[in-house]
Amino acid sequence: MTAIPGPRALAPRLDQLAAAVRARSALVPRIGIVLGSGLGRLGERIEDPVAIPYAELPGWPAPTAQGHAGRLILGRLDGIPVACLQGRFHCYEGHDVLTVVEPALLLGRLGAPEILLTNAAGGVDPTFTAGTLMLITDHLNLTGRSPLLGPNDDAVGPRFLDLTAAWDRDLAERLRVAARSEGIPLAEGTYAGLLGPTYETPAEVRMLRTLGAHAVGMSTVLEAIAARWAGMRVCGISLVTNPGAGISPTPLSHAEVIAAADAAGPRLEAVVRAFLRELPAP
Ligand code: HPA
Repeated sequence: MTAIPGPRALAPRLDQLAAAVRARSALVPRIGIVLGSGLGRLGERIEDPVAIPYAELPGWPAPTAQGHAGRLILGRLDGIPVACLQGRFHCYEGHDVLTVVEPALLLGRLGAPEILLTNAAGGVDPTFTAGTLMLITDHLNLTGRSPLLGPNDDAVGPRFLDLTAAWDRDLAERLRVAARSEGIPLAEGTYAGLLGPTYETPAEVRMLRTLGAHAVGMSTVLEAIAARWAGMRVCGISLVTNPGAGISPTPLSHAEVIAAADAAGPRLEAVVRAFLRELPAP
């Protein structure tokens, strides 16, 4: 059996990645933002952008998921310095778990004390329709993976990480206030992260509801764990692109997911921008 590299392997990788970014931009982000499937357009709004395709960063593959541009963009959004990941790596693409979490950790290494994770998700709560925005208040990690397996790097984070407040309550409240100020409804709930790449069976969606999930997707939870481990404060919003399998009688398709994300994207963008404008100094 091969040894698991573990989070200790991340520190030199992050140094190498940060150096590559610093060769192109000195910007220190106030917050890191991860844009999920179909949500990348917020990245186009960044002023004075320095955009770095993932394939130009050492060791990063080009993303394969459709709807993911695959760029790190540094610049300002409404005057706030941000580092934005337009697209992410997923385990279902065949990437190991450390590759999946490196981008989120890199944002922290560049100086972002906070991270906002967004994703496209299926609705498990039967009241959620396509286009529902859901504040993530907690998660279920059902991927069967953890980025923290293997030798720990105590200089970065603890061996046994407390996840009681994985999803930061103060940032969550700020997102609620931002949505309210824009007149945009914001549901809340627990995001279940699964490995994918299949969508769920109707029985799995019923199981997830029994487990207390409100939305389901194939990302986010591993990044949230890694970012918390590295001491970042984490918040997030799911854009529900479809009722989960079996709730809607029609089959699910990636095209439907992308179309719904495109349609609701401007509302998510408005919430995020209102949130950024009111962020206090770190
Ligand atoms: N299941 C899992 N991931 C998803 C879904 C879904 O129904 N919709 C968008 N991402």
